[in-house]
Order: sequence, then structure tokens, then C-alpha cells
Amino acid sequence: MSDRWPDNRVTALFGIEHPVVQGGMIYQSGAKLAAAVSNAGGLGLLGAGSMRPDLLREQLVKCRGLTHKPFGLNLPLFFKHAREAMEVALEEGVRIFFTSAGSPKKAIGPLKEAGCTVVHVVASPVLAKKCEDAGCDAVVCEGFEAGGHNGREELTTMVLTPQCVAAVDIPVLAAGGIATGAQLAATLALGADGAQIGSRFAITAESSGHERWKQAVVDAGPADTQLVLKSQQPVRLLKNDFRDQVTNAEARGAGREELAALLGTGRARRGMLEGDVEGGELEIGQVAGLMDDVPTVAEVFTRLLTGYDEACRRLGAGE
Ligand SMILES: Cc1cc2nc3c(=O)[nH]c(=O)nc-3n(C[C@H](O)[C@H](O)[C@H](O)COP(=O)(O)O)c2cc1C
Repeated sequence: MSDRWPDNRVTALFGIEHPVVQGGMIYQSGAKLAAAVSNAGGLGLLGAGSMRPDLLREQLVKCRGLTHKPFGLNLPLFFKHAREAMEVALEEGVRIFFTSAGSPKKAIGPLKEAGCTVVHVVASPVLAKKCEDAGCDAVVCEGFEAGGHNGREELTTMVLTPQCVAAVDIPVLAAGGIATGAQLAATLALGADGAQIGSRFAITAESSGHERWKQAVVDAGPADTQLVLKSQQPVRLLKNDFRDQVTNAEARGAGREELAALLGTGRARRGMLEGDVEGGELEIGQVAGLMDDVPTVAEVFTRLLTGYDEACRRLGAGE
């Protein structure tokens, strides 16, 4: 066990070495990525949001074959197969659930009855408190910088984290804009018990995303992402032709149906899995501008820990 984080509530809750969770990510976090993160001492999560139940079962079995360490499942509650995905995961022995995109109230009953640890993703301290009252074991507070679907609140991680820490007694994981060890140290300094990291793990060798999509992120500059679709379901993505189509449609007041047709069901798959980097939806956080290579997960952990130690030294922590 690492002596960097004594008495850490996140490592204790999940039985892991480092207080780092890999966020569930559509078309990125299959068995290979989740197992690599768990093997490196973090908590890997399979992302159910882009898997039909049969594929999810296959990936859960595969993940169990790749790691003996704990791993969990990210379950976006608006996902049309959410109920089936939950049943499959329970049958396959998953006991750690990170739910998102919806209220955890309905889902938490069956999960708690099955003895699960349940964590919900929120974008405001009010919602964090509701999760605690509903019986969640921890919350992830996800700031405006984060890749993928996001809250409408526009609270940055820097501001949201201390508010959530003040609002609840359960452990808080900060998410959004964390890709380096110094950023990890900053979130712990803000009172978080750990971090959920998405984008950095999406751009690794083990992520199932297409190589062209990973390269597009590596090539991205500091201001190349944008939060779009605030009128419907806000999502942070990389600026490309698809982003232009969406923002033009929004600007001329396109309604829900037209935007839904534009998005279709396949744009994210097309962009991130099939590598159509202009016509597809490329979900990534502001940290895109900080990433300039495609390392392995083990290398990401080495950098996170080295960077964390350097940041602590700079601050004179423990002296
Ligand atoms: C490509 C991509 C796909 C994502 N898909 C999901 C998802 O299916 N479910 C979910 O709860 N969050 C999803 N997220 C959010 C991540 O789990 C995580 O909270 C977020 O990426 C953290 O911010 P960061 O990108 O700055 O690290 C996604 C993020 C990215 C970048």
C-alpha cells in the first residue's frame, strides 16, 4: 500500500491503492482499460453506456480474467438498457456501481439490497446532499471542465469541489480537469478524498477508442473543446465539423427533434470508435490541451504519482 494517502476514505471504501477512479466512458472503457487501471492500483470502471447487455456481460467476464483487483461499473441511468445492464452486472458479481445522468433514488434500492457500494455523479452541492440522503456511499462532483455529458451549472471543479465537501459527510471524488499529479494534489487540497479521471484515460493505449480520435486529441490546442447543446443535454466535445453543425443548428433555434436527428444515435460511435474525426462526436475535456501523447495506463500512473510528489514538495507538505 502507498503511504502517500494515509486514512484515505476512497482507498478504504474500494480496497484500492491510490484514490484514483477511471471514469466510465462510452466507447473507451471496456475490459482492457478498466483492468489496466485496477492493476495499476486505481479503480477501473467498465462503461455500460455504450454496451448492449450481451456485450456488457462479455466485457465483465473478460475484465475478471484480466485483473484480480476490484473494478466497477458506470451506469448512466438515462441509458435505454440501464435496467438490464444493472441486472447483468449484478449476476456477474459486480458490487461497485457509479451511476450518472439521472436520479439515483430508484436505482439505489436494488443495488443496496444486493450489498453494493453506490456512487453517483453530480454537478452541484444540492444534488450531492440529495445523494447522501438517498444512501449513496460517495459522490463524484464533476466540474465544467469535464469531457462528455455535463451539468448546466457551469461550476468549475475548483469551485464545485469545496462546496460539495462542505455539503456532505460521505467521501467526495473530484472530476473534471484532472490529468496531472499537480491537479490531483490540488483536488485533495480542496478537500476531495480522491479523483475521477476521464479524458486522460481515454487517450491511452488501452482505451478502445480509434487511433485517429486519440491523435485528434493529441493535436488539440488549449481552447479546442466546447460545451454544446446546453438547451438539451450539455456535452463537452472537441471542435470539428460536427460541432459546427450542432452550434449552427442551436443558433438558429433548432428544436429538440431536429437536434436529436442531427445527433442520431451513432455520432459518438462514428467519431470515437470508428475514427471519423470531422463528422463524429468527439467527447473530451478541457485537459485535451494538456495531452500530447498516447501513453499506457501504467505510464499515466507513474506520471500522476511523480507529479503528485513534486507538487507536495513544492508546497512543502509534511515539512
Ligand atoms: C469520451 C468520454 C466519454 C464519457 N462517457 C461517460 C459515460 O458513459 N458515463 C459517465 O458517467 N460519464 C462519462 N464521461 C465522463 C467521465 O466519466 C468523467 O467523469 C470525466 O471525463 C471527468 O472529467 P475529465 O474528462 O476532465 O477527466 C465521459 C467522458 C469522456 C471524455
